[in-house]
Amino acid sequence: MRGVIFRGLEELVVEAIGMQAWDELLEAHAPEGRVYVSPTSYPDAELFALAQGVADKLNKPLTDVLAIFGQSLFGFLAEKHKGISSKFASFEELVLSIDSVIHMEVKKLYDEPNLPSISAIVKDDKTIVLEYCSNRKLCFCAEGLLYGAAQFYSRKLTIEHPQCMHSGAEHCVLILHLD
Ligand code: HEM
Repeated sequence: MRGVIFRGLEELVVEAIGMQAWDELLEAHAPEGRVYVSPTSYPDAELFALAQGVADKLNKPLTDVLAIFGQSLFGFLAEKHKGISSKFASFEELVLSIDSVIHMEVKKLYDEPNLPSISAIVKDDKTIVLEYCSNRKLCFCAEGLLYGAAQFYSRKLTIEHPQCMHSGAEHCVLILHLD
C-alpha cells in the first residue's frame, strides 16, 4: 500500500490518541526507522498490523477502526489531491466516477498502484448500488471512504452491506441510501 495511505492513518492516530501512541505503534509493527513517503509502496501486512494495533489500543474491533480510518482518509486524500476531488459537483457524481476518473487519475500519479475494482449504478434518485472487489478485502475501509465523501458534500448516507467478500462472496455489494 502507498505511503500516502499510511500517512492518512498517522494523521488520524496522532489527532485521536497522540504522537506517542503512533510512535509506539511504529515501534511494535514497522521496521526500525520507518518513514512513510507518499508515492512509495510498503507491505500491506504492515498497514493491517498498524490498524490492528490501533484497534487493540482503543479496544475496538478492527472493522470499526478500518471504517473510521476510511472516513478520515477521504478528507485527507481529497485535500492532498484537490485537482481530482474538486472535479465533482455532487456525491453521486463522485461515487459514479471512482474507478473511471478518480482511481484512473491515481494511476497517472502513482506508478502501478494496487487499486480495488469499484462499479456503481444508480438505482433511483436516493439509491446507488456499488460493487467492490479487491484481494485486500478492504470493504470496511471503502464504506468509511464513502461516509467521508458524504460528509464532504453534506449528505446523509446509510450503507447496507448485504454481500461481503469476508463471507466468501466474489465481490461485496454496498447499497448506498441517500436522504
Ligand atoms: C468514495 C471514494 C473512494 C473510495 C470508495 C475509494 C476506495 C479505495 C479503497 C477501498 C482503497 C484500498 C485498496 C483496496 O481496496 O484494494 C483505495 C486505495 C487508494 N485510493 Fe481510493 N477511494 C476513493 C476515493 C479516492 C480519492 C478521492 C483518492 C485521491 C485522489 C484516492 C486515491 C487512492 C490511493 C492513492 C490508493 C492507494 C493505492 C495503492 O496503495 O497503490 N481514492 N481506494
